[in-house]
Amino acid sequence: MTIHYQGTPQQLFWKGSPYDIVFDAESIQQKLKETDKPCYVMKDFRGRIGVSNTGELVSEGRGLQVLAIANPMTASQLGDSSFREDYNLGLAYKTGAMANGIASEELVIAIGKANLLGSFGAAGLVPSRVLQAIERIQENLPHQTYAFNLIHSPVEAALESGAVALFLEKGIRVVEASAFLALTEHIVHYRVAGLDQDANGKIQIKNKVIAKISRKEVAIHFMQPAPESFLKSLLEKGKITALQAELARKVPMADDITVEADSGGHTDNRPLVALLPIIIQLRDELQLKYQFAQKIRIGAAGGISTPASALAAFMMGAAYVVTGSVNQACIEAGTSEHVRKLLQTVASTDVMMAPASDMFEMGVELQVLKRGTLFGPRAKKLYDYYKQYQSIDEIPLDERLKIEQQIFRKPLEQIWQDCIEFFEKRDPEQIERAKDNPHRKMALIFRWYLGLSSNWANAGTSDRAADYQIWCGPSMGAFNDWVKGSFLEPYQNRKVAEVAEQIMHGAAYLYRIQTLKMQGLTFPLEMEHYLPVQQIEAAITD
Ligand SMILES: Cc1cc2nc3c(=O)[nH]c(=O)nc-3n(C[C@H](O)[C@H](O)[C@H](O)COP(=O)(O)O)c2cc1C
Repeated sequence: MTIHYQGTPQQLFWKGSPYDIVFDAESIQQKLKETDKPCYVMKDFRGRIGVSNTGELVSEGRGLQVLAIANPMTASQLGDSSFREDYNLGLAYKTGAMANGIASEELVIAIGKANLLGSFGAAGLVPSRVLQAIERIQENLPHQTYAFNLIHSPVEAALESGAVALFLEKGIRVVEASAFLALTEHIVHYRVAGLDQDANGKIQIKNKVIAKISRKEVAIHFMQPAPESFLKSLLEKGKITALQAELARKVPMADDITVEADSGGHTDNRPLVALLPIIIQLRDELQLKYQFAQKIRIGAAGGISTPASALAAFMMGAAYVVTGSVNQACIEAGTSEHVRKLLQTVASTDVMMAPASDMFEMGVELQVLKRGTLFGPRAKKLYDYYKQYQSIDEIPLDERLKIEQQIFRKPLEQIWQDCIEFFEKRDPEQIERAKDNPHRKMALIFRWYLGLSSNWANAGTSDRAADYQIWCGPSMGAFNDWVKGSFLEPYQNRKVAEVAEQIMHGAAYLYRIQTLKMQGLTFPLEMEHYLPVQQIEAAITD
């Protein structure tokens, strides 16, 4: 099987060494893969279609008839060059935060050493644990860029302000801000406290914000300068200087906006093809209004785990791509072997929405794995009880006994005692507020299960395997399908930086294939796809 042609030939002729033209399928594929070189497809005097990476094109004279051309285009050209330059990256590729340290120190360090941008999963961790991560990552990535997740915490505001204080103190220069519904004084503090001016009056933005959003009404807050009310309050408290408040009026709240489509974890399940253009247009409208010196870049997340999905995002105008689910199955992720092994087997349909622990009472859901665990249906059942009854005592006895035996493995009143003990150390007000409010008490009891189930998954608690809460999106299954039969099929071989490189190099290859197809070429199936091969050298730096 080889390539075919049905199109209008170029008015160009190829001149070069006949030894540099190949005609057999295997050699053609090799030439196609060298995306750092041009690719010329021509017809020889015997009517055969051949491919070369060398030679020159002439518009007249003797030479072979050129059928199609693809210019050099490597993975490192995909996306926005200013994104790569600002963060000192080899590829416009970022790994998203994964809570509870699933996006671990090892993961962020491995990604950073490959000159890519990783974000530590600080959400859900106590400050001392985050500090430990900061110290380890800073020690291992002295010259590379890394980010920390700043997650909005509507219920426990002290967590958010504490994280900002820690990030400012420790010189964390990039945060991935997520779960925000609107701006808070804390995120404004982080951003504005990093503003300065050089000798020429140029604004220096030292604290970069990459905001993750899935709705226009949230994006808009990050695409404008900080609100005056917050600047005034921060000035009064002496947290920012008058100059910083002045500079804040000229820069947007975020340098980059990640558009999050249907992803693992918290998601609005939006399709990327619909959402990305909406946010890009919004950015353009606001850029026209504010004329920022540096246009906000828009990246894409949610569903990206294959060369085709990454290329689609770049072709729609994404400045960079962000992956999540696929990294949880990699060896560096802070989860258990059990989870990694399970993730290797899932299909894209093996996911479901289930109640989220942090916003349980509000009915917020997140995307989890439904294969190999009963967490999803069990958590949904608890939410149904919460909606139906005002207190645990209203639950019919037989049903209450069933959930006590199957889900909690203890009487609900005993779980309540555990909750009291937990919150007394962490946030006693939670218990105070639940004292005369049986509905709230029920929520806290149910959240005991929702909170612990992800810890069980991360720790690999074997007698709780049926209750593992594993955040996961359809992209995991897409990745498994793509790598089937390659060295990346076994989860033990999956390393975050290698996965990143394969996705990006694959995207550059597919770009070439699509470019040539649009000029009239058809390829045999094996050439249309990019199967990972273990030969790309990661650009590891010290
Ligand atoms: C296990 C897991 C945990 C996550 N935790 C967080 C988090 O704490 N903060 C955050 O901003 N995003 C979190 N995300 C979202 C990712 O950072 C990323 O944006 C998303 O997974 C991309 O979509 P994908 O899952 O389709 O790759 C999480 C995703 C997963 C799979």
